[in-house]
Amino acid sequence: MLFIILLAILQLGLALNPASFRKLVKDCDPKIEEIPWQITNFVLFEKKAASNQSSYLAFHFIDVNERLEVNTTCVRTVPLNSTSTLDSSGWTLCKNNNVAFEWDGTTLQLSRDYKDKCLGKPPYDTATAWGRIKPNATSTTAVDGVYGMKTEMHMPITSLS
Ligand SMILES: *[C@@H]1O[C@H](CO)[C@@H](O)[C@H](O)[C@H]1NC(C)=O
Ligand SMILES: *[C@@H]1O[C@H](CO)[C@@H](O)[C@H](O)[C@H]1NC(C)=O
Ligand SMILES: *[C@@H]1O[C@H](CO)[C@@H](O)[C@H](O)[C@H]1NC(C)=O
Ligand SMILES: *[C@@H]1O[C@H](CO)[C@@H](O)[C@H](O)[C@H]1NC(C)=O
Repeated sequence: MLFIILLAILQLGLALNPASFRKLVKDCDPKIEEIPWQITNFVLFEKKAASNQSSYLAFHFIDVNERLEVNTTCVRTVPLNSTSTLDSSGWTLCKNNNVAFEWDGTTLQLSRDYKDKCLGKPPYDTATAWGRIKPNATSTTAVDGVYGMKTEMHMPITSLS
């Protein structure tokens, strides 16, 4: 009798807590990208035509979501004499290669790949989370070009694929 009551309490507990239920039945607790990513020390430098400095974009990417923690540096430098520009289309990998970004001149887009066994068996265990933000950076004119800076931003995670 006592056993049956305990069993009933256990089942009620599981019914009220779907996450622990999933964990019990599938041995799987999905990773969830929900807390916005932090973009810190964002610096955009656009050289003047005559300058011999390279244009660049640099920032830190921080993900604090449980079991998805990443803290990495992202940099894109336009080689001197290159005909490409900072905002020319294309993705650049961050130091942690699971993270990549693209800058179109106004919007910073980020993608972040991760593995989660809850998604399925390899190779179906990977997902990509996406985010975007317009930095609204503070601009400063220097001798060699123009700097745009933003100390900290919170980038919402807009989609998953
Ligand atoms: C870059 O330009 C500055 C002056 O604008 C000059 O002093 C410096 O030597 C140059 N550097 C190179 C590597 O050309
Ligand atoms: C990220 O890493 C940098 C340097 O490695 C460190 O200074 C900073 O505190 C870290 N931030 C977080 C949120 O872990
Ligand atoms: C870049 O261009 C300058 C002048 O046009 C030239 O002196 C220099 O060697 C070039 N550098 C490279 C890496 O091509
Ligand atoms: C951009 O930043 C300035 C000051 O840093 C602030 O006053 C303004 O409201 C910001 N605009 C947006 C759209 O976030």
